[in-house]
Amino acid sequence: MRAVSSNILLDVSNVTKIFKIGGIYFGEKLTAVDNISLKFMDDKKIILSIVGESGSGKSTLAKMILGIEKPTSGSILYRGKDIFKLNKKERKDFRKDVQPIFQNPYESFNPLRKVDEYLYSTALSYLEVDRSSLEKVIEESFSIVGLDFERVKGKYPHEFSGGELQRVAIARALITKPHLLIADEPVSMVDATLRMSILNIFSELKEKLYSSIMYITHDLSTAYYISDYIMVMYRGSMVEYGNTREVLEEPLHPYTKILLESIPKPNPKLRWREEIKLSGLEVKEFEALGCKFSNRCANATEKCFKERPPEIVLNERKVCCWLYSH
Ligand SMILES: Nc1ncnc2c1ncn2[C@@H]1O[C@H](COP(=O)(O)OP(=O)(O)OP(=O)(O)O)[C@@H](O)[C@H]1O
Ligand SMILES: [Mg+2]
Repeated sequence: MRAVSSNILLDVSNVTKIFKIGGIYFGEKLTAVDNISLKFMDDKKIILSIVGESGSGKSTLAKMILGIEKPTSGSILYRGKDIFKLNKKERKDFRKDVQPIFQNPYESFNPLRKVDEYLYSTALSYLEVDRSSLEKVIEESFSIVGLDFERVKGKYPHEFSGGELQRVAIARALITKPHLLIADEPVSMVDATLRMSILNIFSELKEKLYSSIMYITHDLSTAYYISDYIMVMYRGSMVEYGNTREVLEEPLHPYTKILLESIPKPNPKLRWREEIKLSGLEVKEFEALGCKFSNRCANATEKCFKERPPEIVLNERKVCCWLYSH
């Protein structure tokens, strides 16, 4: 028998999430995430940005990866095992290895509980450490985010600013030395002045080979600044994927082009400084058989309205668009 050795940490394969909305019997279906695949390796740490306008399915994808939402179809494997079929020990390892960071740090902490108590209990439940080494372990993760643990002791969440508490939340996530952070809009509620310092922590984490990061954002400029790869989503589907610089400097998909152009700025260096906001968004699911973007696409041909575009691989890039199908 051949031993199977895999260095894939997380293998998300053809994952789809369909929500039933508006009543059990006569409700409609909404495909929030449509056939998405991605991988995170154990030995290659990367920052992957997931971008797309509001409602494109970014958070739903994150929730499935964290095991909070169950996919309607497709699989999510953690070290080769389905995350929804893990035994107790495997689930604990999974929770330790894959840590979330949410948008609102105040929601990550119980307002009635002192922050340090929360940190101690995280460390105690995931790490095999005795009380005497606890302080050291927590101090280590605080030093990575540039905070002094002593200053945090005895305080409640509301005693911190949003930016400070988000750093504490990142430090808490780092206590377990995770291999992957799933960060859903982690800096959108943080003061602009602190935003970059938090994002720099992410870059450092990856550089020191501690952790990969899935960075969900509306903000193309920060995606450009910190990520290695980028996935552009439109109504649940991946429309373009590739090296961040290549995708944002030379977008292939008409939707990616629109995202970049929707932020006109006289100075091209400032082009992506604002959030993605497109007008004329239809909230209702577009049930076309063809490309979901066809009704908004200037390049659409008859085929685009009739047939779903395949995933076209061009070197290391992927684009789902008939324009590139020759
Ligand atoms: N529990 C749910 N039940 C029904 N519909 C849902 C549920 N969660 C999300 N949706 C719908 O799924 C779609 C994708 O939502 P999601 O929150 O994943 O988007 P998003 O890209 O994270 O958006 P935003 O940028 O606003 O955070 C939306 O149309 C949303 O209304
Ligand atoms: Mg979201």
